[in-house]
Amino acid sequence: MTNRAVINADRPIGTINRNLYGHFAEHLGRCIYEGIWVGEDSAIPNTKGIRNDVLQALQGLNIPVLRWPGGCFADEYHWKDGIGPRADRKRMVNTHWGGVVENNHFGTHEFMLLCELLGCEPYINGNLGSGTVQEMQEWVEYLTFGGESPMASLRAENGRAQPWKVAYFGVGNENWGCGGNMRPEYYADEYRRYQTYVRNYGDNRIFRIACGASDFDFAWTDVLMREAGRFMDGLTLHYYTIPGVWAEKGSATDFGAEAWFGTLRKALVMDELIGKHKTIMDRYDPAKRISLIVDEWGTWYDVEPGTNPGFLYQQNTMRDALVAAATLHIFHKHADRVRMANIAQTVNVLQAVVLTEGDRMALTPTYHVFDMFKAHHDAELLDLDFAAAPYTVGGVSIPQTSVSASRGKDGALHVSLCNLSHDEAAALSLELRGLSAPDAPIAGTLLQGDALNAHNTPEQPDRVRPVPFAGAERGADGTIRVTLPAASVAMLRIG
Ligand code: AHR
Repeated sequence: MTNRAVINADRPIGTINRNLYGHFAEHLGRCIYEGIWVGEDSAIPNTKGIRNDVLQALQGLNIPVLRWPGGCFADEYHWKDGIGPRADRKRMVNTHWGGVVENNHFGTHEFMLLCELLGCEPYINGNLGSGTVQEMQEWVEYLTFGGESPMASLRAENGRAQPWKVAYFGVGNENWGCGGNMRPEYYADEYRRYQTYVRNYGDNRIFRIACGASDFDFAWTDVLMREAGRFMDGLTLHYYTIPGVWAEKGSATDFGAEAWFGTLRKALVMDELIGKHKTIMDRYDPAKRISLIVDEWGTWYDVEPGTNPGFLYQQNTMRDALVAAATLHIFHKHADRVRMANIAQTVNVLQAVVLTEGDRMALTPTYHVFDMFKAHHDAELLDLDFAAAPYTVGGVSIPQTSVSASRGKDGALHVSLCNLSHDEAAALSLELRGLSAPDAPIAGTLLQGDALNAHNTPEQPDRVRPVPFAGAERGADGTIRVTLPAASVAMLRIG
């Protein structure tokens, strides 16, 4: 059966906010330490302590926004422990994640430097769970106040006279769980209090983000919108794709067709979730002023055998590439309300884009999807009528393919496509209406593995990598016919 899309090139229906391609880096396992930060004295080539190979890889993605320092870590983090001479910084236990020593060598200045080097917006997650209002207020003052004040002086003493710009600030993380086990009514009140002191200094304008729900907790969204909606700019949603159950999530690499299918089926739940949380938000905020921010998403498997269970280190295969592509398409579809998303997590943790081993690294299939889809950043989302063929395993069906189309500032059309089927090529017909140049050239890129669990390692860094794609042809009637190999992702540029 054919998958059919009619793309209305003359009907833009919104903007794909580039922040949908955001990332999340927590003090967890080897994400910050080893993955990003090696220190200035390391034998690994670095820029003021940030490893160059990873930095260069991340620069290639045009990361728009980076969330830090957690996650659960955020509500235990006391920012003053991470400033001043590194040798004097407090050593603490990272209780959430592996019980290892956190030496606080990567702190506010190091994070802001990383954002500068990446050319991205910082999204700082403050501590509501175990921190004080004063502590949160002072962090914002330290970061953004340009005049004379105790925190501005402290910043200058630490080598930074000028304030930074901070656009995004989260007031707590998962406060229904690791961030304090609060009830929504209690958190809503706490949020109202804390956010009062997250001030706009000078011309810095902070987009205040409240902790939102996990998965299907619609009651949380309802209470937050009702009690605190007018005090927030964004409300978060966390959803992870776990193939099995929490206690036995499943292996990242050792899986068959059933687990492939089950994982993708669970990834597609994101569409239903966003839809339902949006309906609640629409009730309180029909003008869509408040953004839904999916600041934690991605696959979560059992850790790689022999690794610290608290480090959440997992490999990343073509299955993850498909989860990434299909999820990004869902975000596009809901671009009217979803204006930021942050994949968890950037390096060495969960669905990472980069994996490191000592002084070596590999780009994951997920990296390549983010790279291929860069043309969608801030592009006009185009109206699309789409009918997918069914992909059925064990009597359950999901759509075989997923498609999204946008027009970039250069006028070119970009159509991203994925074929979720583990074993069948997909025939797609793309009818392009309203194109100003109906015979514009088509160029394509394809990401495909030699096995469902194909992945990259430092020994085999290019086993999965994008290649030119010649499977899209324009017929006499102008319709573009695409044959998309099983388990693959493609990006077409038309124009
Ligand atoms: O990303 C790992 C953890 O998942 C985060 O710290 C937490 O917010 C979520 O439960």
